Amino acid sequence: TGMFTYDPGFTSTAACDSSITYIDGDKGELTHRGYPIEQLAEKSNYLEVCYLLLYGELPNKEQMADFEQRVTRHTMVHEQMHYFYRGFRRDAHPMAIVCGVVGAMAAFYHDSTDISDAQQREIASIRMIAKLPTIVAMAYKYSVGQPFVYPRNDLDYASNFLHMCFSVPAEEYKIDPVIARAMDLIFTLHADHEQNASTSTVRLAGSSDANPFACIAAGVACLWGPAHGGANEAALNMLREIGTVDRIPEYIARAKDKSDPFRLMGFGHRVYKNYDPRAKVMQETARQVLEIMGVENNPTLQVAKELEKIAGEDPYFIERKLYPNVDFYSGIILDAIGFPTSMFTAIFALSRTVGWIAQWKEMIADPQKKIGRPRQLYMGEPMRDYVEIASR
Ligand code: CMC
Repeated sequence: TGMFTYDPGFTSTAACDSSITYIDGDKGELTHRGYPIEQLAEKSNYLEVCYLLLYGELPNKEQMADFEQRVTRHTMVHEQMHYFYRGFRRDAHPMAIVCGVVGAMAAFYHDSTDISDAQQREIASIRMIAKLPTIVAMAYKYSVGQPFVYPRNDLDYASNFLHMCFSVPAEEYKIDPVIARAMDLIFTLHADHEQNASTSTVRLAGSSDANPFACIAAGVACLWGPAHGGANEAALNMLREIGTVDRIPEYIARAKDKSDPFRLMGFGHRVYKNYDPRAKVMQETARQVLEIMGVENNPTLQVAKELEKIAGEDPYFIERKLYPNVDFYSGIILDAIGFPTSMFTAIFALSRTVGWIAQWKEMIADPQKKIGRPRQLYMGEPMRDYVEIASR
């Protein structure tokens, strides 16, 4: 191809160097700043992982307390933002709302849009991490016709999100610690995943020096697709559609049929050619949550487990190294907690915001930063002369 290499889908092109997240797809390993995801999932919590992703090291006690305080100080959104929500149809998809509201943050928080100012970059980052749960919860409240619930800063990050989603003025939602922990875990396991499609989108948007709110809104838009973040919603819808264990073989056959566009949603990954380590943690959490909710014999979980087993023994899936990914089990947990499927991807977006921001900050600070500008192979007409309309 002469001057440049041709690599559709970026299957073999590294576009940046990064020190944040490492994935060994063949071994099924994932680390943030060197720490394995399994240890972070077991011992850490989402806000601490946020700190780690943003600043490179685990915080000491004082640093953690300071970070927590900085985040909680920004959990409310500007009161005028309520009007923005009211402009949406009642049945608007939460991702459409989140995409719009995050982009609109640039109009509400002018004082943190100057990307050449390190302090403004920092405030924009904290604002987004603090406000995304509020923004996503408001999208949910709007869709169910309930009043918005203000954040509570005495609660931890995950509990506050549950409170804003499920409390109503007449009755405070009772937060079960197992549910709060599962929520925190879902946030943690989605926090970053190196140069996936949405993160690359954020970097590409940021490479033009666009403001951080616009960049993260671009990430939200990209995440929405069913091949990416939308897979959790698609996976649960698929499990429900299958419905009963006896119908699994029919769907397996369809997934293998190349003339049928159907794929097993929540299966396969561009980088993992081994079990997704996040899916392992999710599977165990799903079991715990369903136990708490008294839905252990949940038909969806039964279909999920059986589907995983049948696919795991089928040569088609073995040869192509297609294993369940993180989204296969997260949907079951979110469903059991009480979220409608339309909220799943929005919850992924709120979790991934910190990863997008960490990657964006890394890029802005990179002395080698250049505007992202892919090339193409032109396949169209060679140069030709314009023909007057009367002669066409
Ligand atoms: N069901 C059936 N066949 C599949 C699936 C699937 N879920 N995924 C891949 N394949 C087949 C595909 O047809 C191809 O077969 P062949 O070589 O015979 O043509 C082979 O496996 C390789 O697939 P590919 O499309 O070239 O792989 P990719 O790296 O471009 O795609 C993927 C990765 C995640 C988009 C894809 O596996 C997929 O569409 N999965 C379902 C959607 C999904 O669960 N996405 C969530 C990804 S993880 C969360 C996130 O990061 O957002």
